[in-house]
Order: sequence, then C-alpha cells, then structure tokens
Amino acid sequence: MESPVLILGIDTSCDDTSASVVADGRRIFSNVVSSQNEIHKKYGGIVPELASRKHIEMIWPVVDEALETAGTDPERLSAVAVCYGPGLIGSLLVGCAFAKSLSYTRSLPLIGINHLEGHIFAAFLTDEKIGFPFLSLVVSGGHTAIYRIDGYLEYAEMGHTRDDAAGEAYDKVAKMLGLGYPGGPVIDRLAEKGDAGAVEFPRPYLPGSFDFSFSGLKTAVRNFIKAGNGDFRIEDICASFQDAVVDVLVRKCEWAIKETHIKRLTLSGGVAANSELRRRMGAMTEDRDVDLFIPPVSLCTDNAAMIASAGYFHFINDRFSDMSLNPKARLPL
Ligand code: KG4
Ligand code: ZN
Repeated sequence: MESPVLILGIDTSCDDTSASVVADGRRIFSNVVSSQNEIHKKYGGIVPELASRKHIEMIWPVVDEALETAGTDPERLSAVAVCYGPGLIGSLLVGCAFAKSLSYTRSLPLIGINHLEGHIFAAFLTDEKIGFPFLSLVVSGGHTAIYRIDGYLEYAEMGHTRDDAAGEAYDKVAKMLGLGYPGGPVIDRLAEKGDAGAVEFPRPYLPGSFDFSFSGLKTAVRNFIKAGNGDFRIEDICASFQDAVVDVLVRKCEWAIKETHIKRLTLSGGVAANSELRRRMGAMTEDRDVDLFIPPVSLCTDNAAMIASAGYFHFINDRFSDMSLNPKARLPL
C-alpha cells in the first residue's frame, strides 16, 4: 500500500498557535491548538503584540506535540503548509518564518495557504463526503463571507462584510456588556435564557447584494445600553442581538441558494459554533431540501488541520510556494 501524503499544517494567523498532521487531506492524525484567551481576556480583545510574542514561545512545543501525537517526524512529512494571511501581521510572521525554516532545513516542499481557504476546507475533514458545487458561509472573528465552490481550489466570492465581521460584533457587544473575550460563546450561552423579541435591533440585509454589514447593529446595541435601559435583562439583550445576526446570516444563505440553485451549504469559522445559528440554518436548509455540512466546533474555530487539508489539495495539484512567501495582513481568496 502506498504511504499517505502527510502534511504538517501551521496556523498562527490570530491568537491561537496551532499545528496539525493530516493524511491525504482528510484523516486527522493530530490537531494541537494552544489558545491565548487567558492572555487577551482582560483587555476585552486581542492585543497583537502580546499575540505574536506568545506565538514565538509556543510554536516549537505545539509543532513538536503535533508530530509526536501523530507518531511521525519531519523526515516522514510530504510537505509543510502554512497560513500566510489574512490575519495579524506579527502573528502570521511567526508561523511563516517557522514553516520556511523547517522547509529549508528538512528539504520539505512549502505550501502557503489562505486562512479563508482553510476554513472552507474544514468541511472536508468530516466523515461525510461533500460534492461540488457547494456554497460556503465563512463566519468568524475576522471574516464574514459567502463563497461558491465549483471544485477543489475553485472559489468565487459572492459577498463579504463591508465593515465588522459577525464574530467581531459578538466580541464588541460582549465587551460593552462587560462579558469578557471571546464574546461569542458567552452571548450564545446567555441568549439561551433570554427573550429574542425583547428588543427590536436592526437587521442589515443590504437587499440586492450578498455583502454583510454588522457595524450598525453593533452601534444600535451600544446606543440601547447608553440610553440607560437598565430594566432589560442582559440575557434579553444577548438574545435580541443574536437573533438579528442569525436572521441576516440565514436569510443571506437562503437568497444565495435561491439564486444559484445550489443544494449544498457548508458553514465554518468560529461563529459556526453558535447554537442558534446551527439550529436555524438547519431548519432553513431542511425546508429547502438542501444538504448542510457543519464541521464539529473544534474544526470551526481556528485550527491547523484545516490548513493541512487545504495544503493536501495544493500538493496534489503541484501548487507550491517558495522562500519568497511572506505574510499578508490582507489577502483576498
Ligand atoms: O474562526 P475563529 O476561531 O477566528 C477567526 O478567524 O476570527 O473565530 C473566532 C470568533 C470570535 O469572534 C468568537 O467570539 C466567535 O468566533 N465565536 C462565536 C462562538 N464561538 C466562537 N460566536 C458566536 N457563538 C459562538 N458560540
Ligand atoms: Zn479563522
């Protein structure tokens, strides 16, 4: 039997240091994520300088653990795939410099991966096989975009956020409410005990476009809190805000399905961990007879398995990078 293509994936795009070994683009041998939440929590958001310093400290131990858990070593790897953008430039730099050194010293092919491409490929790491074409909603702390995927490495963006990403809105609203960072999981939990109809927040649908905009909604929540609506429970504000975000995300996907007639949808990125979004997207796709693929939560939030998976498809298509690979804070797919 032929030995599998083993890709070491590395992601340091934001505040998590992650390394993973994936075989043939689908079988996860290891997926180590070292979170920095404890460091950034007290600031109510990510402090870029602290993030890069922590990546420097963690990159070796995290890669070591990923190789050890996978029961492999650099000699047996087929290539190293690294996320080179979009993200925080100092953070990306650490992963890129590390991957380039490993590639150079071990004579391993180097593959640069777009972080958003990684989020899309998270759907390939689940048991179910997804066919083409499919629609993909990537919704995270840094990005909110909808893509049409016609084949491996064939992406067309249908729309993206014009201002804040959905996860960013969650994090900022959580900060206003004194709920800490990251805001998504806390708001998700509190919203369960709240009344979604308590406050009528705006739904930024931007008719006629697949773009998103969450900054006005965030401001509406700020104004509501500032106006001294003390008699509202925090759970009700969370539930009402979440209802507005989920309404927009679900409605946009529904429009994309209607317009393209594509009957497959994937959901990924940190906000795809949201229980209400999962539930409502599930109901909408069931009504429309659409297959919905949502990776488990550990593959929705930032992780290197998704980078390794995308790396495999670059590998089999001979798409390699060279030593001129440099991190890019902004990098469209
Ligand atoms: O994909 P990710 O780990 O990092 C980025 O690429 O941004 O996403 C992190 C984002 C954060 O904004 C966090 O608040 C949000 O995902 N998030 C959630 C939930 N879990 C994480 N948002 C809503 N509900 C959740 N359960
Ligand atoms: Zn991400």
